[in-house]
Amino acid sequence: MRGVALWFFASAVVYVSLGMIFGLWMSASGDHMLAPAHAHLNLVGWVTMALFGVYYHLVPAAQGRLATLHFALATIGVWLMAPGIALAILGKTEVPVVIGSFCTLASMLLFLAIVLMNASARTADVRMGAAPAE
Ligand code: HEM
Repeated sequence: MRGVALWFFASAVVYVSLGMIFGLWMSASGDHMLAPAHAHLNLVGWVTMALFGVYYHLVPAAQGRLATLHFALATIGVWLMAPGIALAILGKTEVPVVIGSFCTLASMLLFLAIVLMNASARTADVRMGAAPAE
């Protein structure tokens, strides 16, 4: 795995590690008020980003400038959305979660375009024992 695929997958692992620490803190403190922020850090940060990483690993031809823009939008989305949900729950401000949500949606729509543009691209051979793709 390398390039945008690695960026997505490595950042997903960072987000789930932070999400787990957050979850452990909620468990230990008994304060579950920010559970929706924890859930979105894990589901948008870990599950969604990891799936993007797997896609770019499977379809290396999709890596390029649009994929880099996709990574930037998705990253800004996670950074604004997860803490933004916490700030909104705490009654501080809703601005970050609104901007983060639109960045996250935009990143998914861009991903849709990338998937369709690469619909006939060759898929990497990921069978056991197959030579790694160059
Ligand atoms: C060390 C690992 C984790 C710990 C200690 C943890 C802890 C928690 C706690 C304490 C809650 C609040 C439960 C409640 O109020 O009913 C929660 C909710 C939740 N967690 Fe986790 N969690 C962990 C990992 C994950 C992961 C990996 C995911 C998703 C991939 C996840 C998704 C969710 C979801 C969807 C909710 C419900 C949020 C809501 O009700 O608004 N959690 N978790």
